[in-house]
Amino acid sequence: MAEPLNIALAGLGTVGSGVVRLIETNADLIARRARRPIRIAAVSARDRGKDRGVDLSPYLWLDDPAESATRPEIDVVVEMVGGSDGPALTLARKSIASGKSFVTANKAMIAHHGLELAAAAEAAGVALKFEAAVAGGIPVIKGLSEGAAANAIKRVYGILNGTCNYILSTMEDTGRDFADVLADAQRLGYAEADPTFDVEGIDAAHKLAILAGIAFGTRLRFDAVETSGITGVLAADISQARALGYVIRLIGTAEIDHGPVGGGEERGLFQRVRPHLVPCDHPLASVDGATNAVVAEGNFMGRLLFQGAGAGDGPTASAVVADLIDIARGEKGAAFSMPSAELEALEPANSGHRMGRAYLRFIVPDRPGVLAEITAAMRDAGVSIESFIQKGRGEAGGEVIVALVTHEGPEAAVSEALRILEGTDSVARPPLVMQIIGA
Ligand SMILES: NC(=O)c1ccc[n+]([C@@H]2O[C@H](COP(=O)([O-])OP(=O)(O)OC[C@H]3O[C@@H](n4cnc5c(N)ncnc54)[C@H](OP(=O)(O)O)[C@@H]3O)[C@@H](O)[C@H]2O)c1
Repeated sequence: MAEPLNIALAGLGTVGSGVVRLIETNADLIARRARRPIRIAAVSARDRGKDRGVDLSPYLWLDDPAESATRPEIDVVVEMVGGSDGPALTLARKSIASGKSFVTANKAMIAHHGLELAAAAEAAGVALKFEAAVAGGIPVIKGLSEGAAANAIKRVYGILNGTCNYILSTMEDTGRDFADVLADAQRLGYAEADPTFDVEGIDAAHKLAILAGIAFGTRLRFDAVETSGITGVLAADISQARALGYVIRLIGTAEIDHGPVGGGEERGLFQRVRPHLVPCDHPLASVDGATNAVVAEGNFMGRLLFQGAGAGDGPTASAVVADLIDIARGEKGAAFSMPSAELEALEPANSGHRMGRAYLRFIVPDRPGVLAEITAAMRDAGVSIESFIQKGRGEAGGEVIVALVTHEGPEAAVSEALRILEGTDSVARPPLVMQIIGA
């Protein structure tokens, strides 16, 4: 058998210790498939004394992960530390500059610095791979960049954050409120102590920006992802959606937008993470718990659905080691499916002309005339109302929940209606707006 591929692992937390376990458990099978063994040559983390549930004594311990970038016996550095900058980015730059291939599970770093790192990897003739960074164990990067490579991808969308999906589907099953379910999710280890990146949609936005780059061959624009999370979703929204035949899911959507019809066609990159209403018979409606799912629509393949565990030690390690097997076989590939200089630079699309139906929910004072003001604003902005629902009194006393569903129309009209209502005492609190996904 050929010489082993020597790897250094930086970070031995959930993902890193999973990678050690997987490589040890499946060593023979991996060596046969990779046509050479994959050998852990060095490991590093912060605390050498921590029990990680795996025996690290056979491996060289490095106090500083950056040392793996310069050791001549190391072929590939695997980063599982996390963070968009800091030690992870230093390690990435150093490893690639030293001629090491680089594998990472770090979506934040790739979303922010992926283009720079891809260009550096091309210049150095090494691989940069990050299958684990998007949707954990689901091979969606390989699926899009290889399996779907012959297609023009029209749209890619999906459930990209397991924590949010767990919270929303648990709220749906139990009727409990967001804060209550979040606290439980933290106790059970489904949510971080600081859940901001997850519940505010930032983690999903990192993944969406990466997916869009690969699906469309465009330069990554994380800064241009319209992002809102699930903190504003009430138990009442979930029950209301259910009564209308929908479930609520945090959906990331990206597509190439062709501008307003007749208004000078212009290609723009549309990227949005936002809670959506999903029809109960849509494939994404049955994606429950911490599962992730990605839908890609290609001009020849039609609709493809990827679904599976978006996080966890086993699934994420599976994606990391798949990248290592590619490298062991000599398959470097291009990080974003084509050379970075050829990725198209697109400006963010203006979403105002996008057509669709929306769910709007207001918390309003319980007094006569409020509903008339809301409907008048809708009428003046050209929004046509399909159904109007007034719920009972809110717990806060003196307030009621009012929700409406619009007919198909431009998003700009809804924005205009909200602008008219902004600052009026009819709408004391910011409304929640959720797009409705078509079947
Ligand atoms: N967890 C998942 O299911 C999952 C899924 C997909 C992608 N990811 C990504 O994978 C990466 C790692 O996630 P994780 O969940 O495994 O994180 P984690 O459990 O917090 O582990 C992080 C590891 O990095 C080490 N570390 C932190 N700062 C360091 C420093 N300055 N120098 C050296 N080592 C340092 C920690 O060392 P100590 O253990 O000594 O403290 C720990 O071993 C992140 O980018 C994450 O977004 C995670």
